[in-house]
Amino acid sequence: MGAIVEAEQASVVVNCGQLLTLAGPSRARVGPELLELGLHRDSAMYIENSRVAAVGTYKELSTLLPKNVQVIDACRRVVLPGFVDAHTHLVFGGNRIGDFEQRIAGRTYQEIAAAGGGIASTLENTRKASEEELLAAAQHHAQWFLRGGTTTIEAKSGYGLTEDSELKILRVLQRLQQQMPLRIVPTLLAAHIVPPEFRDNRAAYLTLIMEHLIPAVSKHSLARYCDVFCDDHAFTVNEARHILQKAKQNGLDLRMHVEQFRSDGGAKLAAEMGATTADHLECVDADDIAALKAAGVQPVLLPASVFALSRTEYPNARAMIEAGLAPVIASDFNPGSSPTASMPFIIALAALYMRMLPAEAIAASTINAAASLNLAHEVGSLEPGKRADFVIHECEDYRELAYFLATPARPRVFIDGREVN
Ligand code: NIG
Ligand code: FE
Repeated sequence: MGAIVEAEQASVVVNCGQLLTLAGPSRARVGPELLELGLHRDSAMYIENSRVAAVGTYKELSTLLPKNVQVIDACRRVVLPGFVDAHTHLVFGGNRIGDFEQRIAGRTYQEIAAAGGGIASTLENTRKASEEELLAAAQHHAQWFLRGGTTTIEAKSGYGLTEDSELKILRVLQRLQQQMPLRIVPTLLAAHIVPPEFRDNRAAYLTLIMEHLIPAVSKHSLARYCDVFCDDHAFTVNEARHILQKAKQNGLDLRMHVEQFRSDGGAKLAAEMGATTADHLECVDADDIAALKAAGVQPVLLPASVFALSRTEYPNARAMIEAGLAPVIASDFNPGSSPTASMPFIIALAALYMRMLPAEAIAASTINAAASLNLAHEVGSLEPGKRADFVIHECEDYRELAYFLATPARPRVFIDGREVN
């Protein structure tokens, strides 16, 4: 009986024109390692019990295959590990099409935020939405990630900013995880902005985060990370330090939004606090990069949030790679500054505007992103023992992912060896 069950869970992907395994150490890749994608031509991959069992030519694998193995024909296309999107704001109410039109008319993101639009307007819509409504919207958007070949995401709260509504968002993520194969790593971003009702009493909002939200989230294991947005209309470096210390004491690891619009010591704070990641980094200098390197902080670069705000200050990925940092690229999917869930589009932006080669961008959106979520032992590469999260892309050369821009392609997406789209 056991043998039959095992046989039912065995499959082999054949005819892989290019199979990029990203095989190597279970850690983030740096420097020239970013170009080593473990490219196998005309090869096959054997999957047993949701995990990769072997990679090789079909001939090499054929002796391993049980009789009733399921055969998946990759039709000579490119096979990659599922993308890992390490920075998203998946759950929110409403949208920001109004802000979008105002920006087209010439107002800046910061001007709109200062006038009560921006994140504050999404707050209102998220607070008034029921848990069911938020779940339905998140399900809809989560499908977009899967359709683009993303199989794991990090997802932040941050559009509630009351105790109830932040917990509501994190519960939505928990329910979504129970319903969908997409892997979700939740992050508490109660320190996104100071909500309008606390504008004249910031200290009280900090107390709410530190004395109520962080302990509650940690007690109920509703998040693995705590994030703080350090910027002009958000939190100061000192405020962020207090919040992050509290999060650490409560067993949460740290991510930070820093140096998006101006340089103010946020990246150095990420280094000082031993954050896992420092995200955005459009405005960093050489000292900041050196501090991140010394502390082993991974930069998470979000080119779509530059592009979609019609800005031109992309983060300096080349300087970071030269300094030996282990870059991650991510969508920053959110209703304000980055309404896209497409990792192929992020890869194209990273190539065109951050001068990352397609190979570097692929490493940054698979194994390096997995490492930034402490998941490099499970996902981000296709090696024996790892989860069979893989995608058959509709192309024959992996560089097409960056080259054929915004292509409405139809990849075949597999999580734990099962097709999910
Ligand atoms: O990562 N920088 C702060 N947060 C988001 C934007 C959120 C919004 O505009 O709704 C970001 O870009
Ligand atoms: Fe963000």
